[in-house]
Amino acid sequence: MRKYHGAFIKNEDEISRIREADRLTANILDAIGDIVKPGLKTRQINELAMDMCRDYKVKPAFLGYGGYPYAVCTSVNEAVVHGFPSERELLEGDIVSVDMGVIFDGFVGDSARTFPVGQVSEKARHLMRITEESLYVGIEQARDGHDVHAIGAAIEAYVRANGLHVVKQYVGHGVGKSMHESPAVPNFKTNKKGLILKNGMTIAIEPMVTIGCPDVYLLPDGWTAVTTDHSWSAHFEHSIAITPKGPQILSISDRGLNRHTIAPEG
Ligand code: MF3
Ligand code: CO
Repeated sequence: MRKYHGAFIKNEDEISRIREADRLTANILDAIGDIVKPGLKTRQINELAMDMCRDYKVKPAFLGYGGYPYAVCTSVNEAVVHGFPSERELLEGDIVSVDMGVIFDGFVGDSARTFPVGQVSEKARHLMRITEESLYVGIEQARDGHDVHAIGAAIEAYVRANGLHVVKQYVGHGVGKSMHESPAVPNFKTNKKGLILKNGMTIAIEPMVTIGCPDVYLLPDGWTAVTTDHSWSAHFEHSIAITPKGPQILSISDRGLNRHTIAPEG
């Protein structure tokens, strides 16, 4: 694989393998979305993901990664990312962010969505909608010749214009043979110049957005990131390829692009 300033340039064949990893990942997220309801334990989300990985004959990408002990991350309400599946029962009105990845034929798929549990508040719906829309606003910037930091600048501007806040302790990333490759893909504006994106790069864009203060701390489990003010957070992630035809979303399930909301015009 060619390298460009630390980022790998993938060929057609490699991109199609990443697309397959992402398709299976997105299918698993669809199935998880179907079972999320009040009374479900987050452990059961992990079990479904493990079962589907077995059926698909793929490896869950997160299990064992840096010592992470589960196949999925389930982050409820004020948890931002990397929440552990547990005996916790989801309650009506909760929101749960589910992050999932698989390894297919040596390539990693990575995608995340936040699901409502039953009927959720207007505030929670706004948070989920703006977070998902901000992902598409960022994807629009993922083009050959653009500075990778244009993605985060667009995401942050959109989120702030809608009265919400972007988490800065975690960022998106290049993705391919490894889950985390160059470049880092911040979801916020920086003053530094970033890598210039090139056709053939594959990146995961994953805005994490909060209603209140976007600072986080880690729970004693060493993984779960929670907002310091316990305000709620949402997280949406797609893996995409930069192509001559523009950004191509790879994490699309057999049901089609899972987009709960319609992105803004322009
Ligand atoms: N989608 C997350 C990320 O891009 C998932 C990583 S969880 C880990 O960082 F446990 F595998 F690290
Ligand atoms: Co990711």
